[in-house]
Amino acid sequence: MRATILLFVVGAFASCDKDPDHTNEALFYQSCKAGEAFVINEIQVNNDDGTTNYPVNVDASLNIVVNFTNTASHSWDNVVAKADISRYTDIFGHCSWIGIPTFGLTDHLDGCNFLSQPLCPIPPGVSLIKDKVDLQRFQAILNILNVDEPYRVTLSFKSGDTELACAIIETKIRKGGSG
Ligand SMILES: *[C@@H]1O[C@H](CO)[C@@H](O)[C@H](O)[C@H]1NC(C)=O
Repeated sequence: MRATILLFVVGAFASCDKDPDHTNEALFYQSCKAGEAFVINEIQVNNDDGTTNYPVNVDASLNIVVNFTNTASHSWDNVVAKADISRYTDIFGHCSWIGIPTFGLTDHLDGCNFLSQPLCPIPPGVSLIKDKVDLQRFQAILNILNVDEPYRVTLSFKSGDTELACAIIETKIRKGGSG
């Protein structure tokens, strides 16, 4: 009986994808809705020396590069961002993204003033953001993250009632040290 259960568990774990969207190798991003005003062209998280910060060290400042296109013919102001976070977890071989608590820290973020330079109004065409982002204000969330699992951040940007972009970022993380 015990051996049967053990076999079942081992077999079930073996069928679980341990590398969703190749997050063992690199940060993954994609749009979650087609036809929205903002199209993401590229997202990078780099170290100070320009090399890729992967898995992303959430205890260090993140050098982010975001290249996106505002496909609308006008600019946008009053951009509000919201982030949901899920962890990829394996329950007896059934893997799925399961939401984690964000303590209200990732709702109603001021998208225009989140970074060191004001972003708004966001003009039509390509915008390239290069900035250093510090995640300390999300420390309560970082404290519950586990370095072994990939995480998915679903970002939604709105101006008024219009959703400008919904984007999914998936990444593995590291903690500690300066790099
Ligand atoms: C931003 O993305 C656009 C569209 O892919 C590309 O044409 C442009 O070269 C990129 N800009 C930079 C600075 O990477």
